[in-house]
Amino acid sequence: MPARRRRLAQSVAATVVAGVMLAGCGNQPASKSESTQAPAAAVADPKSAEGAKGNIHLCGGKDASGIHKNTTAAFNAANPGMTAKYTEIGATTDESRTQAVQRLEGKSTECDIFMTDVIWTAEFASQGWLLDQTELVEGIKDNLITSTTETVKYDGKYWAAPFYTNAGLIYYQKDKVAKPETWQQLYKEAAKAPGNGLVYQGKQYEGLTVNFLELLYSAGGEVLDANGEVAVDNDTTRKVLNFMADGIKNGSADRAVLTYNEDPARLAYESGNFGYQRNWPHVYRLLNATNLAGTFGVAPLPSFDGSAKPSGVLGGWNFAISAHSTNPGAAVAYIKFATSPEWQKHVAMDNSQAPVNEAAYSAPEVLAKMPFAKELLDSVKGAKPRPVSPVYPQISQAINKNVYAVPSGTATADDATKQMAEEIKTAKATF
Ligand code: GLC
Repeated sequence: MPARRRRLAQSVAATVVAGVMLAGCGNQPASKSESTQAPAAAVADPKSAEGAKGNIHLCGGKDASGIHKNTTAAFNAANPGMTAKYTEIGATTDESRTQAVQRLEGKSTECDIFMTDVIWTAEFASQGWLLDQTELVEGIKDNLITSTTETVKYDGKYWAAPFYTNAGLIYYQKDKVAKPETWQQLYKEAAKAPGNGLVYQGKQYEGLTVNFLELLYSAGGEVLDANGEVAVDNDTTRKVLNFMADGIKNGSADRAVLTYNEDPARLAYESGNFGYQRNWPHVYRLLNATNLAGTFGVAPLPSFDGSAKPSGVLGGWNFAISAHSTNPGAAVAYIKFATSPEWQKHVAMDNSQAPVNEAAYSAPEVLAKMPFAKELLDSVKGAKPRPVSPVYPQISQAINKNVYAVPSGTATADDATKQMAEEIKTAKATF
């Protein structure tokens, strides 16, 4: 049996903590005959929020948009008996995952809530690291965009609650370059003058997987086909990889993008030396606080070749309650607060993040602060998920490692495509 499955089969979720019920019938350890089955996970009881008190510790990625600072402050002001605090545990999603996994494997009680990237649910749930939030999510999901609740589902249950969703956007300098309709037109405009260039997330990490998949999906490609088989070894992948490599060679994108994650890309663009930036919605508010305020437009991702329908990649962050939380009742109270229709408007108004509550996008007070809310909702709804798998991190590494090799000049598109397909197959075979 592969190592990760064996670990899951052996782990017994016998942790019973205040405010937590054990699903099924009681907290007996699994009997011998049951020991090859996934253990019943402890359940986060929605009612445990009533009368909850004390501290809640949230752990997650860099709070670049300030959304966690604002949400914890508002929660604390509204709930005098509870104190929520947020700790940054990583600068990128990859780093945050490593830090979260270390704590969860070590059964640490440090973090009650982990902010989980949409791509982690299958892995974290299958490892028995999280409380089952099915009942809680069932109670709020009518207010939420369906694709966001899909990101917290695994094996028929909900393992986290969606907080904000995400879809890539193009920021462009209206005085220098045109609104992008196709990636080809964008790259052409970007190469016309030194100040027109594109910045994106080209470092070897999850962000590059996303930036590549946005092109691939729009070009009609995919990672896995409808039967879950690896579907990258074809000319669509080669075409996209060559497109990215040519973009670096001809100056559409500065070579430095190969070192950028989200924040360095944003800061480079803020210098005023670029025409286009691919980034997430939170950049809107931050850019408006610089002297580029009023000079830039926000556009949905363009199509590839103008042929296929443009399609982004669904991002976003969810609240997962650690199976080792010592205050799950307060964690539930926090989640109810942050996912409420009222607070979801603040997610957009105060931090220009994409709410998971659909009604927020048409609220007049949101439109006043986020004029592109309708386009953002369309982008979120049109975005495709990344492959869902307990071994997604390995699949993604097979993608970003081989993608990176092409624009950085160490592999041909053909070799990288073949290698990517092989490594994704190997990753899938480990679970
Ligand atoms: C954003 C997205 C997340 C994605 C990450 C890649 O944080 O919300 O889903 O994995 O960017 O860097």
